[in-house]
Amino acid sequence: MPDIKSVATTPIDGQKPGTSGLRKKTKVFMEQHFLENFTQATFNALGGLKGRTLVLGGDGRYFNDTAAQVIIRMAAANGLSRIVVGQNALLSTPAASNLIRKGKTDGGIILSASHNPGGPDEDFGMKFNVANGGPAPEAVTERIYAETQRLDAFRIAEAADVDLSRIGDIQLGAMTVSVVDPIADYRDLMRSLFDFEAIRRLLSGGFTLCFDAMHAVTGPYAKAILEDDLGAPTGSVRNAVPKPDFAGGHPDPNPVWAKELMALMTGPDAPDFGAASDGDGDRNMILGRDIYVTPSDSLAVLAANAHLAPGYAGGLAGVARSMPTSRAVDAVAGHLGIEAYETPTGWKFFGNLLDAGRVTLCGEESAGTGSDHVREKDGVWAVLLWLNILAARQMPVADILADHWRQFGRHYYSRHDYEAVDADRANAMIAALRETLPSLAGRPVAGMTVSAADDFRYSDPVDGSVSEHQGVRILFANGSRIVFRLSGTGTVGATLRVYLEHFERDPGNHARDPQEALAPMIAAAEEVAGISHYTGRTAPDVRT
Ligand code: G1P
Ligand code: ZN
Repeated sequence: MPDIKSVATTPIDGQKPGTSGLRKKTKVFMEQHFLENFTQATFNALGGLKGRTLVLGGDGRYFNDTAAQVIIRMAAANGLSRIVVGQNALLSTPAASNLIRKGKTDGGIILSASHNPGGPDEDFGMKFNVANGGPAPEAVTERIYAETQRLDAFRIAEAADVDLSRIGDIQLGAMTVSVVDPIADYRDLMRSLFDFEAIRRLLSGGFTLCFDAMHAVTGPYAKAILEDDLGAPTGSVRNAVPKPDFAGGHPDPNPVWAKELMALMTGPDAPDFGAASDGDGDRNMILGRDIYVTPSDSLAVLAANAHLAPGYAGGLAGVARSMPTSRAVDAVAGHLGIEAYETPTGWKFFGNLLDAGRVTLCGEESAGTGSDHVREKDGVWAVLLWLNILAARQMPVADILADHWRQFGRHYYSRHDYEAVDADRANAMIAALRETLPSLAGRPVAGMTVSAADDFRYSDPVDGSVSEHQGVRILFANGSRIVFRLSGTGTVGATLRVYLEHFERDPGNHARDPQEALAPMIAAAEEVAGISHYTGRTAPDVRT
């Protein structure tokens, strides 16, 4: 039996976990007792660990292994019965969500700062997911926060590191540490949803693909599934070994950060299909030869074609998208005669709809797509659903998109980000915008007529909870839309996000450059919000 130590500590201030848990500089997490304090606050918020089981794993970034050992020793000291840990403390976010659900556990801790860079000078994070496999709802994060404010001690077992390299059970005092294969259960789940046989035939017939794991956690998952199970040639999965610093990169699958893959897909040796995922494996980017599929379009195409995969052959109960995500999926829902829900930004808002069986697919413009198979967005899942559809339809990605736009019209879409803006100026801009809302309807802006304008308010149809001020949206009579909101995940100053959307019914106009097609919307955004006046910027830092 290891000795159990109670170490006196003092409350930590201002450590409020958000939608994606607590994200900080790695050095902050490494400060004396910081990780211990936050872990104890989480355990306290659960009302004790006796008789319970938790899942633990992370994306392999710097400090992942050390933090996992501390959490294991603290869990033992706090009376947890069993902790299920991914081998070498690795678990992608969707795989962790699956283990939490499948094992009927009480939740889990995921160590990740998602798509943020990793390393001693970069970011680290810790997120608590509840028993349904999804991110902790606000009531739980509020309780964790309250516990951080009144902490006076943490409990830890005095023991050597547990060997997490070998699969199997180990006892740490009264607690069982079950080291599991991080891939096996997830792979089984994917096999149960998709027609692996059809995808294998597609790949053996000469269809080529490249999956860029960006030196992050999906490397081993993609290798096991795409190369070993589905027969993609070795090397189809690139940057497949998770590195503590993601090889100095920014593991965010978008055209800006996944440059190498973008270059490949537009070059002479482009494979038929390209994809990437982020640090912890929940985001995805989809590409065809010479074509980038916007996440909003991807969600719409998946919704329209999901029935081609065995796991969704019975049709979709409904779909949901975050409010700033383009309305392309709404058009599909209308055609299918199913409900399309519009929720605030953040995956947690899909949880109730998924649990209640109201929606089967959901997604966000920020490269997140998922379904009711877990309670997180899921990068590898999105890639497999695309491959299943490509196998069934036997058409290139570009033709699938063109065909989709012909049927439903094209929603040109782009998000413009202004990063590290002075927070007071950004808040002043949003405040001024809110004030103009009542007078906007009917007014011309940049030559277009505003038909409606509001500050998005969401009333959860399942539990009735209300979330206010979720983004300013301006609708135009021609069907175009602009949304303004401030990021909730930025770390320096404020990040202003401007979401631009323009609907085009006429197939003759479907081949335009998106920034060009959106030029009137860009001008309207400037005119209505005074972006350059408030931010001092004449152009966004990032366009996705
Ligand atoms: C961003 C994305 C949002 C996503 C979140 C967590 O949040 O926009 O869709 O759910 O990251 O991955 P934001 O910084 O916009 O608040
Ligand atoms: Zn992520």
